[in-house]
Amino acid sequence: MGRFATTVQYYARYREPYPKAFFAQVAARLGLTGEEELIDVGCGPAPLAIGFAPFVAECTGVDPESGMIAAARSAAREAGIRLKLIQARVEELPETTGTFDVAVIGRALHWMQPGPALRVVERLVKKDGAVAICGSSVASSPVNPWAEPYDEIRRRWSLEKDERRYRMNLDSWFAPSRFHLADQVTVNERHELSIDDLIGRAYSRSTTSPAVIGDRRAAFEAEITAAVKPFAQNGVLQEEIRAHAMIFREKDLQVRL
Ligand SMILES: C[S@@+](CC[C@H](N)C(=O)[O-])C[C@H]1O[C@@H](n2cnc3c(N)ncnc32)[C@H](O)[C@@H]1O
Repeated sequence: MGRFATTVQYYARYREPYPKAFFAQVAARLGLTGEEELIDVGCGPAPLAIGFAPFVAECTGVDPESGMIAAARSAAREAGIRLKLIQARVEELPETTGTFDVAVIGRALHWMQPGPALRVVERLVKKDGAVAICGSSVASSPVNPWAEPYDEIRRRWSLEKDERRYRMNLDSWFAPSRFHLADQVTVNERHELSIDDLIGRAYSRSTTSPAVIGDRRAAFEAEITAAVKPFAQNGVLQEEIRAHAMIFREKDLQVRL
């Protein structure tokens, strides 16, 4: 069982979403024409593949977790999107996987082995193709005063005390490759959510998954509720999220020589 196995039932519903405008803006910056083949690496329930599907011809998702593959299959069916799925770690993808115009990786790069994963990503992406490293998280904004006490609880209960894994330097990750950072897109969006949504979101993270919290769920949920309740009005919290894409493209030939 992988570390995401027990997060599956919470992931698609509660994890910070990618706004619709994010897909449109990234698609425009990538210059997508609707003819491209896209691969979503570390797809989980495939929010990226599904979001980008209207802008490309074909989508493929890759994830090692069987529950995530099943969640991606049902999310794609619900969205009416054809999604090819491969259950594998990116590092183990065979040559027969083919090549793609765009590879998207959302909130997953830090779980991959830098050297071996990079070699496969280089092989997967066609010449003149692009890699978009994406994420969506709570914005640092006065709209979210509940975020600090919420994160404090999440960190205290977390399986992983060392959060350096999440602060990646993408320039150095891609430095040995033919890609360099060419563009960035940020889209912020506001919406409302409930305390139960924040509890579900905590369970969608591998660091505070149901498997990690175990039989202490009542205490965990009570702490979250007590911390964020003062910020809710009639049970409703405001949230601003920030979705971000860093677009890596082929290095200029002159730079490579
Ligand atoms: C936090 S989820 C991200 C899901 C989705 N891409 C998103 O943006 O919300 C991370 C996913 O990466 C997958 N993963 C972990 N290690 C991986 C690897 N070596 N190769 C491919 N996927 C991996 C996990 O199974 C999990 O589904």
